[in-house]
Amino acid sequence: MAQQNWEKSYKNKEIPWRNFSPNLSKILNKANIFSGVALDLGSGTGEFSKWLSDQGFKVEGIDFSEEAINIAKEICPLCNFSNWNLENLENYHFKYKKYDIILDSKVIAFIEDKEKYLNVIHFKLKGAFVIQSFLYHKEKPLIAVNEEKLEKLLKEKFNILDKEVISLINKIWVEYILVSK
Ligand SMILES: C[S@@+](CC[C@H](N)C(=O)[O-])C[C@H]1O[C@@H](n2cnc3c(N)ncnc32)[C@H](O)[C@@H]1O
Repeated sequence: MAQQNWEKSYKNKEIPWRNFSPNLSKILNKANIFSGVALDLGSGTGEFSKWLSDQGFKVEGIDFSEEAINIAKEICPLCNFSNWNLENLENYHFKYKKYDIILDSKVIAFIEDKEKYLNVIHFKLKGAFVIQSFLYHKEKPLIAVNEEKLEKLLKEKFNILDKEVISLINKIWVEYILVSK
C-alpha cells in the first residue's frame, strides 16, 4: 500500500488495526527477554512501543506515516520514532547496534522485498523477533500473507521458537517468535 494511502487512513482516523491495550507479556515470557532495547517496525500510532517502554525497554519505532508518528510521539514521549521507508531498512541509521526485541506487528504483508527486509532484521537482532500477521482476512485479503511462503523465508534465517495460529470469524492470524541463533 502506497505511503499516501497510509497517511490518508491516519488522517481520516480509519485505523481498524489499532490496539489500544496491547500486551506482549506471554511472548516476552516465551522468549525469556525482559529488558533491553526494542525496535518496533511499522510502529503506527505507537501503542506497542508504549507498552514495551512501560516494561522498561528503550524503544525505537520506525514508520513512514508522519501522521502516525505524530500520534505515537504523544502516546510515548520516551520512545524514539523515525520516519523511514522500511523498503530501505538497510540504509537506515539505527540508534542501537543490536536489538533484544524486534517487533513486526501487521507490517510484513506490505513489504515488497521481504527477503531483504528480513536480512536486515536478522543482522540487527540479538534476541527475539516477534511477527504478527494475518494469514487470511475475508474483507481485506491483500493484508494477508501466504503462510507457506512466509515460513519458508523465515526458516532460512531464524529458528522458530513458538508459533500460535488464532482463528476468529473471517480472520486467521498467526504469531511467530523467532530467534536469530
Ligand atoms: C497495519 S499498520 C500496523 C501498525 C502497528 N504496527 C500496529 O500493530 O498497530 C501498518 C503500519 O506499517 C506502516 N508501513 C507500511 N509499509 C511501510 C513501509 N514501507 N515503511 C514504513 N512503514 C510502513 C504503515 O504506515 C502503518 O503504520
